[in-house]
Amino acid sequence: MALRSVISRRLTKMSWCGTRSVSTWWRNVEPAPKDPILGVTEAFLADPSPDKVNVGVGAYRDDNGKPVVLECVREAERRIAGNLNMEYLPMGGSVDMIDKTLKLAYGENSDLIKGKRIAAVQALSGTGACRVFAEFQKRFSPDSQIYIPVPTWSNHHNIWRDAHVPQRTFHYYHPETKGLDFASLMDDVKNAPSGSFFLLHACAHNPTGVDPTEEQWKEISYQFKVKGHFAFFDMAYQGFASGDPEKDAKSIRIFLEDGHLIGCSQSYAKNMGLYGQRVGCLSLVCEDEKQAVAVKSQLQQIGRPMYSNPPVHGALLVSTILGEPDLKELWLKEVKGMADRIIGMRTSLRENLENLGSPLSWEHITNQIGMFCYSGMTPEQVDRLTNDFHIYMTRNGRISMAGVTTGNVGYLANAIHEVTKPT
Ligand code: LMR
Repeated sequence: MALRSVISRRLTKMSWCGTRSVSTWWRNVEPAPKDPILGVTEAFLADPSPDKVNVGVGAYRDDNGKPVVLECVREAERRIAGNLNMEYLPMGGSVDMIDKTLKLAYGENSDLIKGKRIAAVQALSGTGACRVFAEFQKRFSPDSQIYIPVPTWSNHHNIWRDAHVPQRTFHYYHPETKGLDFASLMDDVKNAPSGSFFLLHACAHNPTGVDPTEEQWKEISYQFKVKGHFAFFDMAYQGFASGDPEKDAKSIRIFLEDGHLIGCSQSYAKNMGLYGQRVGCLSLVCEDEKQAVAVKSQLQQIGRPMYSNPPVHGALLVSTILGEPDLKELWLKEVKGMADRIIGMRTSLRENLENLGSPLSWEHITNQIGMFCYSGMTPEQVDRLTNDFHIYMTRNGRISMAGVTTGNVGYLANAIHEVTKPT
């Protein structure tokens, strides 16, 4: 038999054996549970009803229910067209984008930035920033745990679970008032062991839309100082709370004024509408430049085996928008426009419910801020909304106000009234 034919028969046999043995070890893998947020979008897309409404995922829609590409982004794309090469970014990402992003969180004239005291890397949006931080926490503070607010964005639990960091919870939300439970929050901060790690939402809390006031943030910061706690801020909605990114960074600025060495996750998914571009930043305030250099090198090393280096296009869009004064001005106007449309929809949803004669209080719809309304509806009531009215939202009763429009607010209010009215 010719040598070539023998080799070919052996290869065929090897690959057949390989296929059989490979298929045996994943044959019993069960389907993963649906994601509580992104699974809602899948169910919405599969529903053929013309009446269907998606108020599940936190993604901004215009008043016709359509996804939005901001005009500043369109213009930035025009300006960078053809100027972009496809080379790798450095492991830590775009230095220019990071510099401008830090100024948004820490302040245009931040001494920490000038003193090079912030270790920062470009991240795969807010999720990526949290995930790299969680890994860093596990690596350099292996016995620590993370205190997470109840309730929080469901993916926070997954992120710290996958980094093998034990999770504890702290109170924050009052189910009766659907507002802040400040006393319980402060008790939990005081009772946590000194030097604990806390995950804080910088503004526009997801899912509750319930934020402390400026005065309350000052008290929280003071108590963190007393206890030597570490605050890690997730700032996924800067600009969505008040319409002004500068105002929405207030919680962080208060902690900085008090001299905390904080951590921060920033995302451009919502406030620039760059959802799928996955562009964000992870930063850690250090004692000095030398420490910042060391910390940054470790953050890069965590990213290297996960994704090597971050994507270039979104980062260039961000640095173009923030770097060109006319585009920055346009962006600020557009962020405010999105926040204002949501505020208008809050008023409208509440008014519709009240006009329908609902005996329940819906004040919290307008008291809560940001993209979400934590309605207080039960999972069973949400199931009825979906099954009877084709309205899709997460089972914790969170309504993405970004999906509410002048065209569907009446239908939504009527359905909410139907499923919540006392029988
Ligand atoms: C949300 O909370 O709906 C968004 O942050 C989208 C997501 O990834 O969960």
